[in-house]
Amino acid sequence: MQPLLKIEHVSKSFGHVEALNDVGLEVYEGEILGLLGDNGAGKSTLIKILSGVYRPDQGQFNIDGQLVHLNDPSTAQKLGIATVYQDLSLVDTRPVAHNIFLGQEPRKYNIFLDQKKMERDALSILERLHIQLPSVSVDVEVLSGGQRQAVAIARAIAQGGRLLLLDEPWAALGVEQTQKVRQLMKELRTQGVAIILITHDLSEILQDTDRIAVLRQGRLIGSTESGQSSQHEIIGWITGAIKGEIRSSARLQ
Ligand SMILES: Nc1ncnc2c1ncn2[C@@H]1O[C@H](COP(=O)(O)OP(=O)(O)OP(=O)(O)O)[C@@H](O)[C@H]1O
Ligand SMILES: [Mg+2]
Repeated sequence: MQPLLKIEHVSKSFGHVEALNDVGLEVYEGEILGLLGDNGAGKSTLIKILSGVYRPDQGQFNIDGQLVHLNDPSTAQKLGIATVYQDLSLVDTRPVAHNIFLGQEPRKYNIFLDQKKMERDALSILERLHIQLPSVSVDVEVLSGGQRQAVAIARAIAQGGRLLLLDEPWAALGVEQTQKVRQLMKELRTQGVAIILITHDLSEILQDTDRIAVLRQGRLIGSTESGQSSQHEIIGWITGAIKGEIRSSARLQ
């Protein structure tokens, strides 16, 4: 099976800091890849390169086997790479439906906002993802943190995202809301969306992911099927107490 995204030899320095050094990874449709590593390991830098925010010093990217150039955020987005940032970039004073289609609102005669269609389409994407909200016409500011997160993810999918980049999606969420976002990730996986998940929360990481990749000081030092590792080992890889192993660059077929 061909990976959705293949990254090869990605390096990036900021002055004397080598944030990433010759990193290679593959991500497949319908899989959740956990990207782990201590503070400063290079996780967010890799996410920003994939989302077109930073240009790598070196490296090559293939999507569906085709060489692509992730020159800027809109190019990455057009290629189906959708990033959900921690601030979620929602417009609080606009309704849910409007936020889902922000910048790509359906219009009548190419001019007037087609409110009815926007609400219908928003409802349909929320239903498809099993996201429950009080209504698509309430302003986003009245929603809970978990619901806002769900709206941001729905927008990423509505706007054509096939690979979702989630950088610490539950950093600000409570227990129940975290469970809902985890559930949503599983739903996305069944629909063929690929997810790269960054989290410092290792308690459920092996259950949440199909594979794990560990960065340490900018290098990929370990990767494994989630079922073939343990929390003890992963923590050891992250801290350097256990020597990492590259066991899987790709999902077993
Ligand atoms: N814009 C930047 N300018 C200078 N240095 C940067 C920049 N962005 C990242 N770095 C440095 O690159 C290294 C990797 O940072 P990065 O943010 O990718 O780490 P991270 O794995 O996301 O860490 P955390 O878990 O703390 O979010 C760090 O040493 C960081 O200080
Ligand atoms: Mg980070």
